Amino acid sequence: MARRFSPRLILALFGMLVVVLLFAPWPGKAYSPSTRAIHIDATQFAFAPGRVQVQQGDRVILKLTASDVVHGFYLDGYGLQKRIEPGVTEEVTFTADRPGKFRYRCAVSCGPLHPFMIGELIVEANTPYWRALALVLVAALGMLTYLWQTGKYRSYQEVLSDTCS
Ligand code: CUA
Repeated sequence: MARRFSPRLILALFGMLVVVLLFAPWPGKAYSPSTRAIHIDATQFAFAPGRVQVQQGDRVILKLTASDVVHGFYLDGYGLQKRIEPGVTEEVTFTADRPGKFRYRCAVSCGPLHPFMIGELIVEANTPYWRALALVLVAALGMLTYLWQTGKYRSYQEVLSDTCS
């Protein structure tokens, strides 16, 4: 026979857990959308940097330059495209609202290794998403425990053993 706890105690415990989840600083980074200006330079046959990381919700300003010949910039997933002439800084502004990994590649034929001019944009998902998920899980668990401990939800065996004892 499972020992029963006071329903109030269970509510208090899960209530506390919910409060902690809501207000505790999340380990790692917290979500704070900001404006990120990032300079990407294109040369034969690479982008520098070849890897850019932002947070979901960030406003991203890409400053694109080409230091040898004409290159292009195409960003998968966001459908952004720009032609980059040497000596002219091109600007692309967008909100990184889609999390995931997106490739950016050269969009102008610039030489034999042009197909290999590929970089990667990483958009990190917001932590509020995980916080919300944790909250839902804790709430569901709390409700189940509450129902179980108040006897409104019992397994068949439990009901049997209750009536037989
Ligand atoms: Cu650079 Cu194609």
